Amino acid sequence: MKTIAIYNNKGGVGKSTVSLFLADYFSSGAVTVRQREPRILVIDLDGQGSSSISLVGLRTVAWARQEKRTVAPLIQKLRSGAKIDLGEYVLLRPEGVSRGRQLSLGKLWVIAPERDGIVEIEKNCDLRCFVRMAKVLKEALDPHFDITIVDLPANIDQRNKIPLAGLLMSNVIFVPTDPSRVTLNALPDAFENIQYVRRIARDQKIKVPQLGGIILNKTDKRAKQYRLHHEELQELAAQQNTVVLKNFLPEAPTLSTASDDSLEFGALRERYEKYYGHVRKVALEVAEKAGFTARSKG
Ligand SMILES: Nc1ncnc2c1ncn2[C@@H]1O[C@H](COP(=O)(O)OP(=O)(O)OP(=O)(O)O)[C@@H](O)[C@H]1O
Ligand SMILES: [Mg+2]
Repeated sequence: MKTIAIYNNKGGVGKSTVSLFLADYFSSGAVTVRQREPRILVIDLDGQGSSSISLVGLRTVAWARQEKRTVAPLIQKLRSGAKIDLGEYVLLRPEGVSRGRQLSLGKLWVIAPERDGIVEIEKNCDLRCFVRMAKVLKEALDPHFDITIVDLPANIDQRNKIPLAGLLMSNVIFVPTDPSRVTLNALPDAFENIQYVRRIARDQKIKVPQLGGIILNKTDKRAKQYRLHHEELQELAAQQNTVVLKNFLPEAPTLSTASDDSLEFGALRERYEKYYGHVRKVALEVAEKAGFTARSKG
């Protein structure tokens, strides 16, 4: 299983959007990984639940929360050594045929976040417990999925053990960002948390999560904002021994104003079929940086 974390400590930069697009593309039937269609999981670690709600709908997420079939109870059970039925915790995004021509809505699984109640768990979790969280979750998922995408929340710090465990269990971390001044100013915070997790991995002799690169989102390479800031972005990436991905996601005109109904992913993709060329390129570059080959089927 390859685990890809999507993280920036700044809010609203496109973590959930990038997570959704990647998950959707990899599960679309358009690519094969190791000669077969990969099984894809999205772990939503943001209490707001935007990515899980977009994929499986508000009702299903509310049900999972009520039944405690969300990420924290799963981790708690795994930590206690209890036998679990993973099927109780993963929500299936309904398959369907997109009215769009090329891609079907493939099978895709989601683990939803709770809205609250993790503060207590995290308060009583020391370093050992935090490292164990990442380990047990990874081990439980590993036999069942080929690619796991972890959608992280913004504003995390060293107390937020569950999101940090999401980073720690990942093979590779990508940082979506837009090329604006305010977002650039916030990037060092994200890198600090990433380096913190990498240090822990090193100390604990766990495989160290790699920094896959910065993914430019809401970007127009002709715009002044991009021209003003791209060199600085490259420098910031170089300081972290990483890169800005060649491919990027432009502003999708009405994505930010899509109503709750149309945010449902099936509908969203039908509206953005043209936009999908960008998603495809970013997803294939992410695969390459994450160290697996996603072969485009046709
Ligand atoms: N490329 C894009 N074009 C247009 N709108 C976008 C694009 N990417 C994201 N958005 C919009 O920007 C808003 C924030 O995006 P998103 O929720 O993905 O960010 P986030 O980093 O996950 O935010 P949070 O920190 O709240 O989790 C959303 O309304 C989303 O629809
Ligand atoms: Mg988000």
